[in-house]
Amino acid sequence: MRIPLSAPDISESEINAVVEVLRSPRLSLGPKLEEFERDAADYVGAKHAVAVNSGTSGLHLCVRALGLKAGDEVITTPFSFIASANVLLYENAIPVFVEIDSKTLNIDANKIEAAITPHTRAIMVVHVFGRPSPMREIVEIANRYNLKIIEDACEAIGAESEDKKVGNIGDAGVFAFYPNKQITTGEGGMIVTNDDEIAKSAKMLRNQGRDADSEWFEHVALGYNYRLSDINCAIGIEQLKRLDSILKQRETAARKYNTQLAKNPHFILPEIDLPNGKISWFVYVVRLNENFTRAQRDSIVNEMRKSGIGCGRYFAPIHLQPFYAETFGYKSGDFSVAEHAAERVIALPFFNRITDAQIDEVCATLEKLIEPSGAF
Ligand SMILES: Cc1ncc(COP(=O)(O)O)c(C=O)c1O
Repeated sequence: MRIPLSAPDISESEINAVVEVLRSPRLSLGPKLEEFERDAADYVGAKHAVAVNSGTSGLHLCVRALGLKAGDEVITTPFSFIASANVLLYENAIPVFVEIDSKTLNIDANKIEAAITPHTRAIMVVHVFGRPSPMREIVEIANRYNLKIIEDACEAIGAESEDKKVGNIGDAGVFAFYPNKQITTGEGGMIVTNDDEIAKSAKMLRNQGRDADSEWFEHVALGYNYRLSDINCAIGIEQLKRLDSILKQRETAARKYNTQLAKNPHFILPEIDLPNGKISWFVYVVRLNENFTRAQRDSIVNEMRKSGIGCGRYFAPIHLQPFYAETFGYKSGDFSVAEHAAERVIALPFFNRITDAQIDEVCATLEKLIEPSGAF
């Protein structure tokens, strides 16, 4: 793609930090791991951070560390990346989807209570596209029903709900560092928590079930290799130093997009200034209004790609993914707000160093394609 959908932003400092690790004898479980964890914990104000090799493995370890088991119900959103529900299935827990708020695209907190049953144990909150979910309401419900909260903050490092950093509001939160994220380690993830037991359990489980006092070949629980190498951690340390300036750059790009597209009645644009929180801009997603069909959206995306502009259909709802529809019998119409949004979203090129000229070109191409689409 001439203008990619996303692009990592790696500077000389990341490259030098990687070289430094490669010249050392400690490529894994070394000093960079500890440093990255300390920096991440400090960034969100958490007591502990546990680095892992992906956001998915981080979420899975939270499910394990909280002791969620077969038959336990966990309330979550159908409008997310599939991993937020899959990690529940890994432990045979049951994702219970709750409809989203059409404005924010996050779980509709007003609909959570109706989904609670005697089997409900937790809420998996997702901060979709880096926009904070309404944590005050969610925490209040969780406290009332004695539910745990896992925050899937994989798309939301640096976002704030009221004045609190997301990830550090529930029992445990997870950030992800795939190259399309605000900051990257190539692959990677980070659990943050204030709970000593969750942190201890996550550290043990990521390292094949070895606890801190175990001999190398002693395994006290069924664990995994979810370790993140010191090479990845070295990249993360440097990226984290730049996170606040990266978030400013991304917000500036989002504002530019909104200004360019504001006059066009065909779009529903993302909100930027929230009354009670702060977005960490992961992707810039516009929605076509209700006069457009999914087929028209798809053809616009295809045409954009043909002209060299990367676009994404974020997200196809989880309940309609073939595996979920076949296994659980979900069908179209089960979560109509999520489906309606999913059929009309277009993620536009969005990365730290996107230029004004690139944004101009993306908007001009999109607006030109919309007119002859036959919707009006
Ligand atoms: C909402 C959400 N949850 C979980 C993940 C999983 O993260 P990873 O790809 O690092 O496993 C992602 C990654 O894209 C995500 O967007």
